[in-house]
Parts: sequence; C-alpha cells; structure tokens
Amino acid sequence: TRVAVVFGGRSEEHSISCATAASVLRAMDRERYDVVPIGITREGHWVLVDDDPEALEIRDGRLPHVPDTGRQVIVPLGGLDQDLRVVATDGTVADLGPVDVVFPLLHGPFGEDGTIQGLLELADIRYVGCGVLASAAMMDKHVMKVLFSSAGLAVGPYTVITDLDWRRDRAAALDAAASLHFPVFVKPARAGSSMGVVKVDGPEELEAAVDKARSHDPKVLVEQGIAGREIECGVLQGRGADVPRISEVGEITVVGGGHEFYDFEAKYLDEASVRIQVPAGVSDGVRAQVREVARRAFEVAGCEGLARVDCFVTEAGEVLINEINTMPGFTPFSMYPQAWAASGVSYPELVDELIQLALA
Ligand code: DAL
Ligand code: MG
Repeated sequence: TRVAVVFGGRSEEHSISCATAASVLRAMDRERYDVVPIGITREGHWVLVDDDPEALEIRDGRLPHVPDTGRQVIVPLGGLDQDLRVVATDGTVADLGPVDVVFPLLHGPFGEDGTIQGLLELADIRYVGCGVLASAAMMDKHVMKVLFSSAGLAVGPYTVITDLDWRRDRAAALDAAASLHFPVFVKPARAGSSMGVVKVDGPEELEAAVDKARSHDPKVLVEQGIAGREIECGVLQGRGADVPRISEVGEITVVGGGHEFYDFEAKYLDEASVRIQVPAGVSDGVRAQVREVARRAFEVAGCEGLARVDCFVTEAGEVLINEINTMPGFTPFSMYPQAWAASGVSYPELVDELIQLALA
C-alpha cells in the first residue's frame, strides 16, 4: 500500500505538523507501507522530502520546518490521471506513480479545515480522517459552538467579534465581551495550538487581546474562563466498526513553568510544565459523561476516522464541551495517542487502523 504522508503547511502550526509527521513516519510498518513523504513549505509549496524523521522533530527548543527541496509535487485534478508527478528545479518531470491513500497530518488552516480534504476529493484520492464539512466546521470555534449547542451539548459562555463588528462598533463589541466573567480567553476563531490566545483578567486588557487575536484571524472569540479541569478523550472510527470507539479519558494540568494556561510554550517547548494523565482521576460518572459528550460531538460534527474532544469539568461536576480537533497533535507524547495507548491501542496500531479505515 502506497501512503503519501503530507505535513507542514501554511498554518502557524507548521512545526507541530512536522513533529507529528516524524512520529508517524517512524511508526509506519515499511513492510506493509510504501511511504511517500510530502512536505508543504510555510509558503505553500508541495515538495517531495527525504524520509528522515529526525530532521522533523522538535528538539532542544528548535522548531522544525519543511525545507524547499526543489522537487515540486503536482497533484492532478479531475481523476483522469491519478498519478502524482514530481517536477525538479531543472524542469525534469518524474512520475511518482499511484498513491493509494493520503495521510494529511496537517494542523490548522489550509490543512485541518477542509481545504486539503476538498483538493483530495477533487483529485479522487482517498485520505485519512474527517471530510470537507466536518473539517471546516470544526476549524471554526464559533461554528463549532453553534452546532454543539444546537444539538444540546453544553458549551461555556462566549461572545463572537466578527471583522465587521470590530470595524463598525468596537466599543459595543468590547462591552459585550466585558459582560462575561473575567478571566476570559480571547482566541482567533480559526487557529490551533493556542496560537494567538490571550488570557485576559480585566476589561482594560481586552482591546489589545482582540487586536492580537485578529492578527491571526479577523474573526475572534471571547470565552469565559471555566474554573475546573481539562478532560479530553479520543474518538476512533476503527476498521469495519460502524460505531466510533471512545478512548479512556485523560487530564491536562499545567504544573509549573510560570504558564498561566496550556499555551503554546507549555504545549511544545516546556514539557516539564505540563502533565498528561491517562486515565484521569475522575469519578465513574464524570468519565461516562465525558465519553458520552465525545461520542455525540463526533456524530453531530459528522467526523470520520479520528478526533480528540476537549471538555471542561466544572467544580460542580458539569461537563462542558470546549472543542474538537479533527487532526489532533499526534506525537507519542500527545494526548490522543496516549489516550489510545491507555485503551489498549498502541501508537503503530493506531496509525495502521487510520490508514486501513481510509482504504475500506
Ligand atoms: N492543534 C493541536 C495540534 C492539537 O489540537 O493537538
Ligand atoms: Mg485545542
């Protein structure tokens, strides 16, 4: 089976995607899979890269990136000729041959948001994970909340500031946001890995935070901070199984390093500051509720393949859904694979299942 692993990309989560790809490349059984590593540079060039996981890891605070190898990958559209081609800098064209399935290991816009899924649909190439609509809807934290609350899932209090709101009446937008209880979290609607997220303790800091979030996305969300615990779990629509499987639940705690919340630094550059515990030390009742929320959210969103569902459990024991990630961080140290490892599915098995499901 020929698998094109696609990673990097134009989003701010470029490096995280590289780290994810490094782990997946390592885990793929080379007897079974013929792997074609395709990187997308930060500028958006699709290039054939060396199959060298080490070069793609986050190491000693160094964030990896896709190098422009000059071997440009062309994806033909229209389904007439499904072979990918490689054009070298000197103009020489080589046929890459047919690819059975693409594993789009991309996080954030231009990858996790339905765009590459749309490209692959047009090219008539199978791919791992969620389709166009689920990917697009779950990339936008506002659309996501609207869908979840309309399906009866509890979401925390929030306001939205669209680009038009901000340009038309900034004071009114700030007033609406200030009516939430502080602290609030100001977030770009379409981003990931806490990019552009600011924790705001009082109304005077709101405007600067919205401006910062707007430098990532013109649509901004202001979410009321939830006093409670961050409990997450994985969903996997495994081979031949119609009913999605739900993993053990895990907990994220920020234990030090001066991080006020689970921010980008804490996530990827300061490992000692974050603790991931699976199974989370929660009551059977809370565990069951989180898993039920995850099952319903996956279904409501129309997800396929995989997703990680992130919840808050309030001090009163209420379960709120925070978000779904349709291509969750996927290194062996990330929550999604750890949640599955604790549920009896090892990292290589997880990669295998996802590929087989896409081929089924
Ligand atoms: N957006 C990052 C990769 C995550 O959700 O894990
Ligand atoms: Mg997230």
